[in-house]
Amino acid sequence: MNRKVTVVGGAGNVGATVARCIADKQLADVVIVDIADQKAAGIALDILEACPITGSDSRVIGGSDYAQTANSDVVVITSGVPRKPGMSRDDLLNVNFGIMKAVTEQVIKYSPNAIIIPVANPLDAMCQAVYRLSGFPRERVIGMAGVLDSARMRTFIAMELNVSVDSVHAFVLGGHGDTMVPLPRYSTVAGIPITELLSEERIKAICERTANGGAEITKLVGTSAWYAPGAAAAEMVEIILKDTKKIVPCSVFLQGEYGITDLFVGVPVKLGARGVEQIIEIKLTADEQAALNKSAGAVKELTDVIGV
Ligand code: NAI
Ligand code: 2OP
Repeated sequence: MNRKVTVVGGAGNVGATVARCIADKQLADVVIVDIADQKAAGIALDILEACPITGSDSRVIGGSDYAQTANSDVVVITSGVPRKPGMSRDDLLNVNFGIMKAVTEQVIKYSPNAIIIPVANPLDAMCQAVYRLSGFPRERVIGMAGVLDSARMRTFIAMELNVSVDSVHAFVLGGHGDTMVPLPRYSTVAGIPITELLSEERIKAICERTANGGAEITKLVGTSAWYAPGAAAAEMVEIILKDTKKIVPCSVFLQGEYGITDLFVGVPVKLGARGVEQIIEIKLTADEQAALNKSAGAVKELTDVIGV
């Protein structure tokens, strides 16, 4: 194949799932990089050995050497410590910032033209770290969170109304934390806003479950989720490589959009071959804007701590 995607931290739960989704769909060749050198090689080989069954000709390799990542089109960064029960995403701040420093230096050395998709938590602060450390234009650093959070909200709406998830569209804005902002007015079933289909009480429950979606899985499993996060990051890779221009919520560096400046926050964006091709501004009510501002404030507290 002539496209290459690197997954840093790909020996871990989320990274291995991203790598597998990309190989399954034959979107690109995949390089798994991880400090766990042998595990990276083993997981790459395992995914490669699934390819004859899934009918994919993706080449998948793994190890700890960044030389093999050279000239990647997209680099997904999942390297980082995951949440344990009782931990917030923000508890991970300093540890994962250290990892971002080490990783970003290597990524940009070998793939100066790549689009980077950070995934490690706390997501928006880690995006801002990668953005500042890489010196890349804002179009090429795009955080994965909104695709996951809105997929969770779609799941809960579909369960509530007993309809296909395919008919459900959901919007979640803000930082990927407890202050995220699910938007019922813009969440629809076959084009009908859920505000016309569900009671206020049920909508509130769905929004709360969405915001707690990560913690719910962490409590059940003992570590944070990986299947849905992996699928979400792979969807972003697919949109970029196929240049489909799909509009999805992603964490991007805002420069005045939504009244927020110099901060990574989740908003709807048009993704394509150039990365972020447009930031879509939707009209918010005063309450929605206040919730978004609060969420942005929570991100800013973290970026201030690590000085990015
Ligand atoms: P994991 O522990 O299974 O995998 C992390 C991997 O990173 C390990 O294989 C580890 O060896 C590797 N690693 C650590 N330091 C490294 C370095 N300096 N260079 C290269 N590799 C390194 O963790 P998991 O579950 O895959 O989660 C990864 C991160 O993604 C966590 O920070 C987690 O909180 C975050 N996450 C974010 C989501 C989002 O929506 N943005 C959703 C789910 C997880
Ligand atoms: C999640 O939302 C913990 O960010 C991770 O599953």
